[in-house]
Amino acid sequence: MADQYARPSQETESVDGRGGRPALPVIRWDESPEGPVVVLLDQTRLPSEEAELVCAEAPALVQAIRTLAVRGAPLLGIAGAYGVALAAARGFDVDEAADALADARPTAVNLARGARRAQAAYRAALAAGGNRDQANAACLAEARALHEQDAQSSARMALHGLSLLDELLPGDNHRILTHCNTGALVSGGEGTAFAVALAAHRGGRLRRLWVDETRPLLQGARLTAYEAARHGMPYKVLTDNAAGALLAAGEVDAVLIGADRIAADGAVANKVGSYPLAVLARYHHVPFIVVAPVTTVDLDTPDGAAIVVEQRAAREVTEIAVPRTLAGVEAGTVVPLAPVGSEAYNPAFDVTPPELVTAIVTEEGVASPPTVQSLAELCAKAQPV
Ligand code: MRU
Repeated sequence: MADQYARPSQETESVDGRGGRPALPVIRWDESPEGPVVVLLDQTRLPSEEAELVCAEAPALVQAIRTLAVRGAPLLGIAGAYGVALAAARGFDVDEAADALADARPTAVNLARGARRAQAAYRAALAAGGNRDQANAACLAEARALHEQDAQSSARMALHGLSLLDELLPGDNHRILTHCNTGALVSGGEGTAFAVALAAHRGGRLRRLWVDETRPLLQGARLTAYEAARHGMPYKVLTDNAAGALLAAGEVDAVLIGADRIAADGAVANKVGSYPLAVLARYHHVPFIVVAPVTTVDLDTPDGAAIVVEQRAAREVTEIAVPRTLAGVEAGTVVPLAPVGSEAYNPAFDVTPPELVTAIVTEEGVASPPTVQSLAELCAKAQPV
């Protein structure tokens, strides 16, 4: 049984450095009386409730990853690294934990990378003659370093992304359409695509953030709208189906999304529904911009066909669980949306071919157009880890 329990969220002391709302306590390492724990903001309960999920063992974290209590490519990498550090600190088999965490979800390359990076730090400390305590400390230090590096990458992506918007779009009244959730909830910092929109908002250049609801798990409506509201951004939620009409009406200046894995040729795997947006954007002559750290670029995956797309349970499409007690219906009650027993097609991601991508923004700069060469150059600039 995974050792996992919930408790109300403790507002973090830290602020966003700009006099705004307190930073979201998305993930942290803590020392409980029973030993170290990884504490997550349980994203399955947002926006109804800000509740913490406390993971005392790596299998609990694996479970949190599978259920999307913690999610989004960069944050999955951070969670994977802390999970390995947790296994080490609790005296469990580090290699076994690293395998389980790396395999918890297949598409976001950051997850396996984060877990393997912490595992490598642990092994290197032992190989250098360190004892278990020293190896545990090295493993945790590596997870913390990854967490901090992601925060820095996020800030740099926001700067590069804002410059690109200024270059591509006339005026300073940007209307941006985004899909899924790419903000502080997926990052050590303020996120990827969302961080660019937030930078535009802070610079007085965001007229509207259009938020795709993102069926079936509603990361846009539940999470991006929650983050946009916290920052006082001008946003509107739309059903995924309405994006075509919105673009046809000339209401979108740019589409900005994140990525779960970017192949060497620039093909982008991201939340299902991203590819149709890319097709629409091309038809309507609107830039389609992907924002992701270089840790999401996988030069070992040659092209989109080689990306493994996670297939999720049919019930995510055919049922919905009431998030909180409403009109006498108990929280957690499952309401069928389709006849009981219906089968469903439920890929978590789709793949956009590079020719539909205007630019890929990373912390190391912009690949525009994305090509094998432009991406390899950006990756080569990144600090070796
Ligand atoms: O299934 P999820 O919620 O983990 O999917 C997340 C996304 O698709 C995000 O858009 C992606 O991770 C980019 S966030 C930097």
